[in-house]
Amino acid sequence: MPAPTQATIDAVLRHTDTAFDQSRENLFALLRIPSISAQPAHKPDIQRAAEWWRDQLAGLGFRADIRPTAGHPVVVGHFDGPADYEGPHILFYAHYDVQPVDPLELWHSPPFEPQLVDGPHGKRFVARGAVDDKGQSMMFLEAMRAWHTAGGGIPARITVLIEGEEEVGSVSLWDYVQNRKEKLKADALLVSDTAMLSKGVPSITYGLRGLNYYQIELTGPVRDLHSGVYGGAVPNPLTVLTELFAKLHDKNFRIAVPGFYDDVAKVSAAERRALNKLPWKKKDFERAVGAPAYFGEKGFTTIERLWIRPTLELNGIWGGYQGEGAKTVIPSKAFAKFSTRLVPNQHPQKIAKLVEAHIRKLLPKTVHCKFEVLSTGKPWVAAYQAPIFQVAQGALQKGFGRKAVFIREGGSIPFVTQMHDTFDVPCVLIGFGLPDENAHAPDEHILLENYFGGIKAMAHFYEDLASS
Ligand code: BES
Ligand code: MN
Ligand code: MN
Repeated sequence: MPAPTQATIDAVLRHTDTAFDQSRENLFALLRIPSISAQPAHKPDIQRAAEWWRDQLAGLGFRADIRPTAGHPVVVGHFDGPADYEGPHILFYAHYDVQPVDPLELWHSPPFEPQLVDGPHGKRFVARGAVDDKGQSMMFLEAMRAWHTAGGGIPARITVLIEGEEEVGSVSLWDYVQNRKEKLKADALLVSDTAMLSKGVPSITYGLRGLNYYQIELTGPVRDLHSGVYGGAVPNPLTVLTELFAKLHDKNFRIAVPGFYDDVAKVSAAERRALNKLPWKKKDFERAVGAPAYFGEKGFTTIERLWIRPTLELNGIWGGYQGEGAKTVIPSKAFAKFSTRLVPNQHPQKIAKLVEAHIRKLLPKTVHCKFEVLSTGKPWVAAYQAPIFQVAQGALQKGFGRKAVFIREGGSIPFVTQMHDTFDVPCVLIGFGLPDENAHAPDEHILLENYFGGIKAMAHFYEDLASS
């Protein structure tokens, strides 16, 4: 196949505009499927989302299948590209699962009834998954569809892997990848599941934090007790739990687990300078968060606290009476969910051991502790010198009219590290979400402007791959 002419490219780009209604319908169809990976009741919806992806890929000429795993299935597809294609073979990764929707009462429209509505920065799509990750993965798909429909065929060799467990830690993916190394081996990984630095600033992410997720259950008395009859002479596991968490940070908000920082890689002065010089506005960040004041590890800027420093966060805490009015009770049990975000070169298993040992040491003998590690995930950071990063930067420039910046992110995508460790290939993370689009929260949305900018940038990217 000869290199596409300007007229072909124009036709492809025009198609992304003229096919708007169809493209919106495609997105809405995927957004209507409540594929919540954390909740077993949604198992059939998980299956439906996987089937949806398989059918879409097959419709574009991919060999596409649904593959079972120990957990939720993955969708894999392969498209050879033009016969004379000499560009890199791309592995595109995304996830079709979404986070739970509660608190449901805070949504302004039902989470699985997608809407196109006006917002302060222009029109937006609203639904669970709009930005994380259904909207973003659809940009990739719609750009392929534009080439398929209006450009004479998709101009690149692409393998697609869409999983259904990302939001619960990609627990089954590791085995899947290890058993299919031959099939999944590509020249580069492409992921669209991250954010832009800010509106109008296309961004390529070269670092992610890792994530370990834990749950503990403390048991004091064997059953709930009358707090008047027993109170004062028996351990209260809720009190013990809150005392425990109060001890896990010091006054400079450093994590008080011995050895926690031992393996943290030093970030060079040059990199810190570059990160702090990015067109990122603390005001925008604070407006999006809306807290009365801010606090974090002493000695680091906000960007550094978010991207290059590890954290320990309490994610949920419960136990005792939570209904209306008063109930004088000493609960038998208290629970907490918490997590650590990790940075290079912290080792997830080692950190989990240190955290467990420290917690057991701090706890008094008055309670039993069940300590569970629900998932682990390594941090990732990589050089971005390979030619494909220039291709990505060029494509983003064409899609958004502005030069892309290289950023790190605080979030985690377990597969990126797995992929990098397994195949040692460039990982190109191009995201089109904005940090304030409520991923994992009520009224999740994505800007229409970025949705179409993303489709155009991706359409350019496929075309430019051949010449890289
Ligand atoms: N897409 C996010 C990760 C992300 C968000 C990266 C923003 C960069 C910027 C992903 O779906 C996610 O939410 N990951 C989880 C980790 C997972 C193990 C549950 C996270 O970061 O909490
Ligand atoms: Mn995601
Ligand atoms: Mn997510």
